[in-house]
Amino acid sequence: MGNLNLFEPDELEGRPENRLAELRATLNHWGHAYYVLDAPVVPDAEYDRLFRELQTWEAEHPELLSPDSPTQRVGGKVLAQFETVRHAVPMLSIRTETDTESSGALAFDTRIRKELAGLLAESESVEYVAELKFDGLAINLRYENGVLVQAATRGDGELGEEVTSNIRTVGQIPLKLIARSDHAAKSWAVPPVLEVRGEVYMRRDDFERLNEAQRERGEKTFVNPRNAAAGAVRQLDSGIAAQRPLSFFAYGVGQVSPPEQGGPAWQTHFEMLQTLKGWGFPVEDLDQVVQGVDGLVAFHQKMGALRDRLPYDIDGVVYKVNSLALQQKLGFVTREPRWAVAHKYPAQEQMTRILEIDVQVGRTGKLTPVARLAPVFVGGVTVTNATLHNLFELRRKGVRVGDEVVVRRAGDVIPEVVGRVVLTPPSENALTLPDRLPKLLPSRTPYVPNFKMPATCPICGSTVVREPGETNHRCSGGLFCPAQRKQAILHFAQRKALDVEGLGDKLVDQLVDAGVIRILPDLYKMGLTSLANLDRMADKSAANVLAALESSKQTTLPRFLYGLGIRHVGEATAKDLARHFGNLDAIMDASVEQLLQVKDVGPIVANSIRTFFDQPHNREVVAQLCEPGGCGITWPAIEAVAGASLPLTGMTVVLTGTLPTLSREDAKDMLEAAGAKVAGSVSKKTHYVVAGSEAGSKLDKALALGVPVLDEEGLKALLQGNPES
Ligand code: IVH
Repeated sequence: MGNLNLFEPDELEGRPENRLAELRATLNHWGHAYYVLDAPVVPDAEYDRLFRELQTWEAEHPELLSPDSPTQRVGGKVLAQFETVRHAVPMLSIRTETDTESSGALAFDTRIRKELAGLLAESESVEYVAELKFDGLAINLRYENGVLVQAATRGDGELGEEVTSNIRTVGQIPLKLIARSDHAAKSWAVPPVLEVRGEVYMRRDDFERLNEAQRERGEKTFVNPRNAAAGAVRQLDSGIAAQRPLSFFAYGVGQVSPPEQGGPAWQTHFEMLQTLKGWGFPVEDLDQVVQGVDGLVAFHQKMGALRDRLPYDIDGVVYKVNSLALQQKLGFVTREPRWAVAHKYPAQEQMTRILEIDVQVGRTGKLTPVARLAPVFVGGVTVTNATLHNLFELRRKGVRVGDEVVVRRAGDVIPEVVGRVVLTPPSENALTLPDRLPKLLPSRTPYVPNFKMPATCPICGSTVVREPGETNHRCSGGLFCPAQRKQAILHFAQRKALDVEGLGDKLVDQLVDAGVIRILPDLYKMGLTSLANLDRMADKSAANVLAALESSKQTTLPRFLYGLGIRHVGEATAKDLARHFGNLDAIMDASVEQLLQVKDVGPIVANSIRTFFDQPHNREVVAQLCEPGGCGITWPAIEAVAGASLPLTGMTVVLTGTLPTLSREDAKDMLEAAGAKVAGSVSKKTHYVVAGSEAGSKLDKALALGVPVLDEEGLKALLQGNPES
């Protein structure tokens, strides 16, 4: 190779090793910002450009391939079976407090204080870390000299399965640790050996999207995010694993080099978590240090209230003694540490019985089989109906009237029938049944007929059709079908669309049944008389509805687009379309190719938009709605950006409390139109918190974290490009 000193510096820079190292470091840095910090630093196209350059270099120099290269995230390797690995430090399980009341926390604190008697003064409280209990799959990640070398499942705690190639595909898991010194905790050097433990999970929105795609393709859907995540991690084909959207949270460590061999000398569990975060791992910002039993109870209650709004499932919280020295004193009982406990929440899955299967007709004419259930308390509410999605799902689940089934309700998601209660569940799609399973397959009354889709629409009697290759049955009645008309109007009037207050389902039922409203523009044409003539409609409320309709005319393009109810055009897509094209005419006339240029718009969505605007009656409806002398709906002009970045792109803002003049929705719209992301909770990643009167814990958190706080004036200044703080 010769003496390196013979090279001029710029020749050295041209050497493939150097360029490769530089590309990998840059891409890993950008990947961390994108996946973990949720704050991209460059546009996707720039990332893709460097990624392709790296791929080219590696193809030319296969000898320089390395496992920490971001190109190794794509998967592809297919295994016959997984290797078994022995964990260097056993992966323990954790004691579960099933008492879902606050007394569960008290029981734990009491036990700890008893164990530590003599070490604690009477009045001294124990310091704990309270964490969320993520509902996924435990994983051990082994790093040697900062590079991910092995990932393994928990298995029986001693022996796990080696799933490294699948885990590499998880964008949130660093392939190489970041050696940095700017994180809050004391900065420790990357140790020679580090095992990080945490949970691989799937976010609810990713899960819904995955199942929606599976349904579209007529493929098997997943029972819940946990099963989908576990199935992906245990895929023998890492190419398939790569297509399953997985996330990760770190909550502990396994083997770590001791301080005398270059390892960290952590004093507390929380310090350890902060260090892991600094090295590039996602750590939940809601995890916090709390004092004594009061702190535990407050955390349990706070997270219980927050649970539905979290982007992923939790089945409880975990309490851990913060001091590592005290943890060591407390030690273990059998396979469980004495210093930690899981405190559960009520289950999001329960068993009940199907009383009847009905069919509902949706806005787009889709027929959905709905199970009428014996009432059951699940995920915090009493559920009496649950969706079965479509005929194929129903058949795959094999459910019939009278069956004992598992019902799931998590977050704001519509409750669904997960499947029949069976004794031996199939592996990947295994049902997670509630505790105390019945010991036998419940017997089914003989001769219960299998459910069939009706041949005609239960609402309007039009023929029911199913397009070749489609999984859904649809009513062919279109807007002739009152169910579709009603749903279309409700969709248009909802808060996220035109926001017509007071136009609820009862009123819409009446208006459509009485023939007052046939198409959307009729809404703006009906007078006080036709409204007030309806049963049970007082003049005052009729006037209120008319006033609400009047003020709904000042709207925004995304709201209007979303309100039209074009299949596959949700709120986010409507915003993207508006931002990309800038005006309605451009969207109405865009070709499928042009529509495909919009962020996140694929062929199904593009075709659906094109089909919608190809229908003369839809164009007529839009024309009437926007006609200045007619309905007169208008919105402020926006500039088309077609992918360019906006003034607040990359910024995360949190809204809290009541602002003097702007509604929460308006403030959100304005921020998003300027490119900012509006988040639900405050973390160190939050750029600004906008606080109005009666701002609560979010404001406290902002002040505690030193996040700048703006009032309405400050928000307006920010939107105009001159923030005060
Ligand atoms: S600590 C020695 N913390 O719950 C303690 N576990 O252990 C080991 N889990 O399958 C576990 N969130 O995967 C811990 N914040 C958290 C957790 C957590 C979820 C899972 C873990 C394990 C199960 C019980």
